[in-house]
Amino acid sequence: MQDQYERKIEYVRISLTDRCNLRCRYCMPELGVEKMRHEDILTFTEILRIVQGMAALGVKKVRLTGGEPLVRRDIAELIFALRQIPGIEQVALTTNGVLLSELGEDLMRAGLTGLNISLDTLRAETFTEITRRPLFTQVQAGAAKMLSLGMENIKFNCVPIYEVNDGEIPALAALAKAYPVKVRFIELMPIGCAYASGYRGVLMADVQRRLEKAYGRLRPVRNKQDALQGPAEYYRLAGFAGQVGFIDAMEHKFCADCNRVRLTAEGFLKLCLNQKNGLDLRALLRQGISDDNLKLALRQAIFRKPAEHLFKDSQNTARDSRAMYQVGG
Ligand code: 5AD
Ligand code: SF4
Repeated sequence: MQDQYERKIEYVRISLTDRCNLRCRYCMPELGVEKMRHEDILTFTEILRIVQGMAALGVKKVRLTGGEPLVRRDIAELIFALRQIPGIEQVALTTNGVLLSELGEDLMRAGLTGLNISLDTLRAETFTEITRRPLFTQVQAGAAKMLSLGMENIKFNCVPIYEVNDGEIPALAALAKAYPVKVRFIELMPIGCAYASGYRGVLMADVQRRLEKAYGRLRPVRNKQDALQGPAEYYRLAGFAGQVGFIDAMEHKFCADCNRVRLTAEGFLKLCLNQKNGLDLRALLRQGISDDNLKLALRQAIFRKPAEHLFKDSQNTARDSRAMYQVGG
């Protein structure tokens, strides 16, 4: 369906939990994280009903996020059930990778169509510094496992930070030299703990400069092959099996092409990453709304999707105070 600005909304990102087995400094505080209560989190049955309603309105792609979605029990069953919904063409997952070596086979069997693995570093000590957990070897094993299982459409997401992992930018990109994967660099966004962490995100222009120095000219990938893809701009480098991508959140705003809505683990339909407005779907479901009225409520809410994020407008009261681990990116 189209929203009030004639953007086609075909993609929903669903946060399955606010819990995470890592504590990335730019995302979560170490202590004092107030957890959502289990009874406040949508059940799989509730999620499936919402996605059925959305699919009837033209949503084609679902991405499961967190917190860390793989800490939610039986996630493979949810993926399998989502794949059965008529109209849903893609079911993807964004994970920190810690549990992939354990769950990889189940995810493949369930029919996962895309996998984003967060990977900010290839060095164990730097991993522990950023995530506050010494689990680099698990992530490395998890990523290797998915490649060996033949998972297609793997993307690695890297947030480059000055004096933390910026020296590794060419080495991280080189994953796309060796494997047919996409390595995406994401500019640190002013959400949640990002600024309190003291981290300074590397600007995308700087990332590009460093890659061209190491590997030669970045050649833009022309056509958007996939209308359901996200805000990254992709490039090829000579001799690379895969591609590199850039998400430049602050400068080149991606809002005009935005194709997505978000569902929090508590069942709140968020219309924009950084704004509060939306719809409490959990309340509607638990009050016994009919399928037709659910569809109507979804249609009305999505139509009102706001024009843009307000990252640079820190005083604006429409901004959301939810952190990334509560929204799922
Ligand atoms: N800015 C940019 N990316 C972030 N992520 C988490 N917090 C931020 C932030 N403030 C990234 C993680 C992960 C993805 C889910 O979101 O690194 O790759
Ligand atoms: Fe967990 Fe992802 Fe946040 Fe890191 S960025 S703490 S892996 S939710």
